[in-house]
Amino acid sequence: MSETQSNRRNFMKASATSAAGAAFLAQAFNASHVYAAGDETIKVGLVGCGGRGSGAASQALKTAGKVELHAMGDMFGDQLEQSLKRIEASVSGSETAKVNVPEERRFTGFDAYKQVIESGVDLVILATPPGFRPIHFEAAVNAGKHVFMEKPVATDAAGVNQVLAAARKAKEKNLKIGVGLQRHHQATYRDIVKRIQDGEIGDVIAMRVYWNGGGVWDPRKNREEVATEMEYQLRNWYYYNWLCGDHICEQHIHNIDVGNWIKGAYPVRAEGMGGREVRKDKKYGEIYDHHAVEFTYEDGSKMFSQCRHIPNCWNSVSEWAHGSKGHANVSGASYELANGENYRYRGQKDDPYQVEHDDLFHAIRNNISYDESEYGAMSTASSILGRASTYSGKPVTMKDMLASNFSIMPKEYSMTANPPVLPNADGVYPVAVPGVHKPY
Ligand SMILES: NC(=O)c1ccc[n+]([C@@H]2O[C@H](COP(=O)([O-])OP(=O)(O)OC[C@H]3O[C@@H](n4cnc5c(N)ncnc54)[C@H](O)[C@@H]3O)[C@@H](O)[C@H]2O)c1
Repeated sequence: MSETQSNRRNFMKASATSAAGAAFLAQAFNASHVYAAGDETIKVGLVGCGGRGSGAASQALKTAGKVELHAMGDMFGDQLEQSLKRIEASVSGSETAKVNVPEERRFTGFDAYKQVIESGVDLVILATPPGFRPIHFEAAVNAGKHVFMEKPVATDAAGVNQVLAAARKAKEKNLKIGVGLQRHHQATYRDIVKRIQDGEIGDVIAMRVYWNGGGVWDPRKNREEVATEMEYQLRNWYYYNWLCGDHICEQHIHNIDVGNWIKGAYPVRAEGMGGREVRKDKKYGEIYDHHAVEFTYEDGSKMFSQCRHIPNCWNSVSEWAHGSKGHANVSGASYELANGENYRYRGQKDDPYQVEHDDLFHAIRNNISYDESEYGAMSTASSILGRASTYSGKPVTMKDMLASNFSIMPKEYSMTANPPVLPNADGVYPVAVPGVHKPY
């Protein structure tokens, strides 16, 4: 074994074994290779080569030190090849970033994640539709890999519980886990959230959070263009809950998570209403186009949440906090107090998508504890709680929902298997009817 290989093995071992063992190994290793660890190449595997996966891989490659994209996996070969080109172009000319993904390390299909994890990588980026995240995260942790996983991290209670269990294991193994709720790495948010938590607007009584916009991409494939119902839903994943979780989970999680971050807590109860007003065509699967939820925290404070995918309406992607002394525009990093004082963040602004990777890779290179999985999982759970309340029209509690361990995932994963939701003879999917639909 060459010295480089030996160093590399020690470095990765030092940052990925049991906490006590890691501390010992890190100490022993650092005694002789204090700086060497920072020079080691970190090998990255990408699972889910779409828009965000490609972006996250480029950001990982742009972190300080040598990083190699070593393997890629996607359900579909066409997605993978496009992504590879995009990533290569994004780091061309870099002295520290290497894209080294020969044909034999490009994997497709349902098992691509296993092959990426087993390909000799140190860290995996998980950026498929969120329904698969619990399975992929658990496998990565079992194999002792560091992880960057996109939000949301599940679409049902069973998935949240699976992620929480794997996260406990990751902690025991001293793995570094990043979750793509990038506002936590954005200077404006970090500043204003800390000020709110420090009491500058008084006690937080209520928050308002919004993701109101025109909607996302239209279905990418017609039913006639693909061989099976499974492929149809995978290609058009946004519109199926087992894959996406509805837009309250897929997008609005960012704003709900900011509320949770401010409170340092998660909602215990939700009541809500929602439906589909304009996005009714069968090609839009089963998801709603609007949700409005009242979340309650343990201390009785509230978070009022709205998300909408309807064009030509009032749009806002923002968070607001109301305190006993004044109110904060959280997304605008400013506040106004009743006594006339006000504050606006005027510091540096940065790209949180890059910073979240810089921070994770820094933690790996320096063996610093790094674990975003709990708030990733619980903000996902909060969004699913919201969906359970709007679909059912009934109050739902976090405790009961997580205890139910309900699952909306398929029983079998193959291109010819039936997805858990199927259309009727006219191609129309069942849509939750409040008052009739069970929360879980
Ligand atoms: N943090 C953010 O701001 C942000 C922004 C955009 C997307 N995201 C998240 O990133 C994730 C991906 O979103 P996207 O916009 O890149 O979607 P996308 O459709 O562009 O990409 C998803 C990719 O995953 C592949 N895929 C599907 N199932 C797979 C499986 N089982 N194994 C391997 N590959 C599979 C698809 O073929 C596709 O290439 C979502 O969870 C989304 O919420 C986060």
